Amino acid sequence: MRFSAKRKAVKEFYLTTAIDYANGSPHIGHAYEKILADAIVRSRRLEGIQCHFLTGLDEHGQKVQETAERQGKRPQQLCDEVADLFRKMCADLHISYDDYVRTTQQRHKTVVRNILSKLHERGEIYRSEYKGLYSVRAERFVQEKDRINGEWSEDFGEIIELCESNYFFRLSKYQDWLVEFLRRNENFIFPQFRQKQVQEFLREPLNDLCISRPKSRLHWGIELPFDEHYVTYVWFDALINYVSAIGYGTENFAQLWPADVEVIGKDILAPAHAIYWPIMLHALDLEPPKQLLVHGWWLARGGEKMSKSLGNVVHPLDYAKIYGADAFRYFVLREMVVGQDSNFTHELFVSRYNSDLANDLGNLLSRVGRMVERYCGGRFPEMAMIDSEELALRQLAEKTIRETRSHCTGYAFSLALESIFHLVKTANGYLERRAPWKFAKERGANARRLLETSLAASGEVLRIVAALLSPVMPNISEKILTQLGAEPITQWENLRFSNMLVGRKLGNLEILFPKVEEEKNALSAVST
Ligand code: MSP
Repeated sequence: MRFSAKRKAVKEFYLTTAIDYANGSPHIGHAYEKILADAIVRSRRLEGIQCHFLTGLDEHGQKVQETAERQGKRPQQLCDEVADLFRKMCADLHISYDDYVRTTQQRHKTVVRNILSKLHERGEIYRSEYKGLYSVRAERFVQEKDRINGEWSEDFGEIIELCESNYFFRLSKYQDWLVEFLRRNENFIFPQFRQKQVQEFLREPLNDLCISRPKSRLHWGIELPFDEHYVTYVWFDALINYVSAIGYGTENFAQLWPADVEVIGKDILAPAHAIYWPIMLHALDLEPPKQLLVHGWWLARGGEKMSKSLGNVVHPLDYAKIYGADAFRYFVLREMVVGQDSNFTHELFVSRYNSDLANDLGNLLSRVGRMVERYCGGRFPEMAMIDSEELALRQLAEKTIRETRSHCTGYAFSLALESIFHLVKTANGYLERRAPWKFAKERGANARRLLETSLAASGEVLRIVAALLSPVMPNISEKILTQLGAEPITQWENLRFSNMLVGRKLGNLEILFPKVEEEKNALSAVST
């Protein structure tokens, strides 16, 4: 009893991701976001923090309705098929989510309707005639001011004139509140330059938000509780997933809300997440999430947008199948600085795979394993003497532990990986200089101690590297620890460079990053 009361006193770290549209198959953008979110959650868990990780699927709206029609399917059937694909992507990429929300689930629909009723009763939603320009692709009314250099952006697709009676949410009423909120919370949006962009956007007056769509035009949505002729605008519906999935209004909700971080891509920051969402919450007397973490976009070679029509979309699961899910996770987190865009090229992927994973890490592990087997009967010896070489290695290992922990807390996974791989390279250099294979041929206690110490010290580096890689490469991390015969590591707090492997028996030695023969690899044709 006392234990559970105590646990509840500590708020869990609640992380959400964007919920993917159910109108296509998973691509690198979806995969990256879930991997980034997963690495954040896994690193928090290693810090001893309890987490709740939510992701899911956005199933309503025009695009889904149209895709289903084109494929001759019922929308729900299409959504069920797409949900299987996206959940498989998560499983294949080792995404450790706690809950997967789908906006066609009853638990979600009930909350959307509750919220709509509440806002309607409070006078926050009103009905009005609206005549204006409508973007079919973005599924929203647009204004002249949305033109860039007099042109409509391609993202809007066809623009038509539309006149209809609709329901509106009083967004404009809260503009001053939002401006003040952003002024007081300068870290609400990460990276900060994105917050500045939103503040800039808010210099223009906001319009109220049209939150309904007549059923004559769109039937695939959640019916308004106060007018059966309309369904809810897909963004209003989708944003609510962050509160519906944790049981809006229940005790569980009170425990988890506000979310600690909502991970999204730059294209859906404004207006959806930075404007509609905080204002919707404020109108419901709820706090906004503590932070929006906005990542950049994966682009194709030459900085082009990836698109089906250009045939340059990267399919994450093909990479995961050939090179392993963890190698793919490593690449995207090493290559992309969170918040900025990156180009995905096959050559870059292969070059990182070969140099960092196969040569540096894979090589260190197999050398140490083979020598422990050969010279020490498969059990790790003791680090018997520490002189300047070992001291330097220990210092670097402990610095890497500190740096990795702090980089992970600050979402700087690329830097964390850079410092971990610097340690790997240094350990390879250390082994070269110590050259234990030479001592194996010499007689005498001193030679033996040097041989044992150098293998123990390199093994200890590998144990630390495995522990630090765990948020990014969870399976590889486990495999390295198993090969070393080391204890699993569930917390980073007591991670130190010490004699932890002494007496431990090696597990089965297997090659973790086999070289992939390029000629046999169909992928090189796909994405270059
Ligand atoms: N359904 C909406 C989100 C609703 S959240 C309440 C949506 N879905 S999406 O499938 O189009 O995009 C899902 C996420 O993937 C978004 O955060 C988006 O930014 C991200 N990405 C889509 N393509 C991307 C890249 N090429 N690169 C990186 N991420 C991108 O928007």
